[in-house]
Amino acid sequence: MKRILVIGAKGMLGRDVMGELRSSSLYDVTGWDIEEIDVRIERDTVEKISRLRPEVVLNLAALTNVDECESQAERTFSVNAEGMRHVALGAVKCGAKVVYISTDYVFDGQKGRPYVEDDVPHPLNVYGRSKLQGERYVQELTEDGVIVRTQWLFGKHGNNFVASVLRQVGEKKELPIVDDQTGSPTYTVDLAKVLSALIQREAKGIFHAVNSNTCTWFKFGQSILEFSGITGVSVRPISSRELNRQAIRPPYSGLSCQKLKQVTGMTLRPWSEALKEYVNSLREGKGPLVV
Ligand SMILES: NC(=O)c1ccc[n+]([C@@H]2O[C@H](COP(=O)([O-])OP(=O)(O)OC[C@H]3O[C@@H](n4cnc5c(N)ncnc54)[C@H](OP(=O)(O)O)[C@@H]3O)[C@@H](O)[C@H]2O)c1
Repeated sequence: MKRILVIGAKGMLGRDVMGELRSSSLYDVTGWDIEEIDVRIERDTVEKISRLRPEVVLNLAALTNVDECESQAERTFSVNAEGMRHVALGAVKCGAKVVYISTDYVFDGQKGRPYVEDDVPHPLNVYGRSKLQGERYVQELTEDGVIVRTQWLFGKHGNNFVASVLRQVGEKKELPIVDDQTGSPTYTVDLAKVLSALIQREAKGIFHAVNSNTCTWFKFGQSILEFSGITGVSVRPISSRELNRQAIRPPYSGLSCQKLKQVTGMTLRPWSEALKEYVNSLREGKGPLVV
């Protein structure tokens, strides 16, 4: 059995990753979150990891509120970048492999077609810069580290766009949603399977992993209402300029997953199929319909 440590185990992705890994007899899994380890503290982080002696450390711990990150650069870098450095130092000390989750926000969205793993990053916001620095630490400090870039996550165990749309349905008749940012909504349950496959195959390097097909947030919002059978509420397309959020987002950040397919044989299902399954699971009471 492979001994795996998941850091950020109580987050949205973390809970589905814990479920996926624990359902396999191949792994002996330990899950830590902020109560057990604060990745900002170097000595403590290195000591705790090296004492546990895992063979793989999956670092999901992060500050993920992209707009809040914009006004809290120091705090954001201390978790997303320096935290990754501390985790890597602990992993290297006990010979463990590192897996780090990164983001499409390392790119500026000007390419106009899907980004591949070795496209040159150029982040537009603090969150993206902090995650890119985290990637660089993995590359500098480890020999066989894995970096998995993903985007637009939704899942049962955290705040996300689907939850936010469903929450607003009870309050508003019309939801204004941006129609000038394109990406791939990605289900945490599907991404958890990818992470397990990459660990099993002892992959290394950068991978892009998202559900297939792209859409705008507006189209995503429309589909959430449609698949949930919600009527009497409409969505209205607006521009990013109109929404005027603190952090600038890339206008187009489709990610090519060809490398993932070559190495694992996996292609994630279309985001719309994953969304249908997710919305149905909420209806069946396996999660909150309105959170
Ligand atoms: N969400 C997305 O759309 C998205 C897209 C691309 C990439 N990612 C990446 O995917 C990973 C998982 O994201 P997620 O959406 O599941 O995030 P999440 O729900 O916010 O989970 C992150 C977890 O890390 C914990 N954490 C925060 N600061 C910590 C610290 N100093 N030490 C230890 N743990 C700490 C958080 O605890 P608290 O809740 O108490 O803060 C939380 O449980 C992150 O690395 C993120 O950057 C996410």
